[in-house]
Amino acid sequence: MVNGYSDHSDSMPHEEYVMWQRNCLAHMLNIITEEGAIFYNHKWRVQNGLLQDRHDIVDGFPVRQIIIWKRKGGINFNAGYFLPTYEVIYLIAQKGFKLKPKTNAYGDVWEFSQEMNNPHPAPFPVALIDRIISSTYAKTVLDPFMGSGTTAISALNNDIDFIGIEISKEYCKMAESRIKRYKQNPKIKFSKSA
Ligand SMILES: C[S@@+](CC[C@H](N)C(=O)[O-])C[C@H]1O[C@@H](n2cnc3c(N)ncnc32)[C@H](O)[C@@H]1O
Repeated sequence: MVNGYSDHSDSMPHEEYVMWQRNCLAHMLNIITEEGAIFYNHKWRVQNGLLQDRHDIVDGFPVRQIIIWKRKGGINFNAGYFLPTYEVIYLIAQKGFKLKPKTNAYGDVWEFSQEMNNPHPAPFPVALIDRIISSTYAKTVLDPFMGSGTTAISALNNDIDFIGIEISKEYCKMAESRIKRYKQNPKIKFSKSA
């Protein structure tokens, strides 16, 4: 994500950001069932000598596991750093949450290529969300930061309901048209192995 979002900025002081994200997690935890879970994606990074491993955001939440999403590919714009290739997904789970049979064999390091044909600045690969949804017994998935609608496409792939929230009108339109195109022809661009 080089140029930021197109019509808004979510940059804010660190403390404010942490409170905002903690509030989001608390609300999500409140509305999921006793068998539900939150898959919370974030990057770890070092900024001004400070290790941002997001413990300040997830502290006190029932974090059960950390999954590494290893991205294939990417471009390095900074000669001072090795190319960053991973992000973290916190599995924050209610006590009754269980995976579907055999899906635990995927392990905790997942390798998926970055989404290429998507104008959103930070899209998830459909295959990553397919992995999450198809490993769970979820009947409805909520994505409060839906961007271009990848979670919706994956929900359709997996035949479950979805709710998406997105602050940018432009990205809402992007998601809407993507969902429409998918419904017209599910196989054309967003196959399960995309
Ligand atoms: C990392 S992107 C998600 C991309 C998405 N996973 C996809 O595959 O396209 C985060 C999204 O959150 C949105 N966002 C930022 N602040 C928000 C807010 N307060 N409420 C809803 N959406 C917000 C941004 O516009 C951006 O599209």
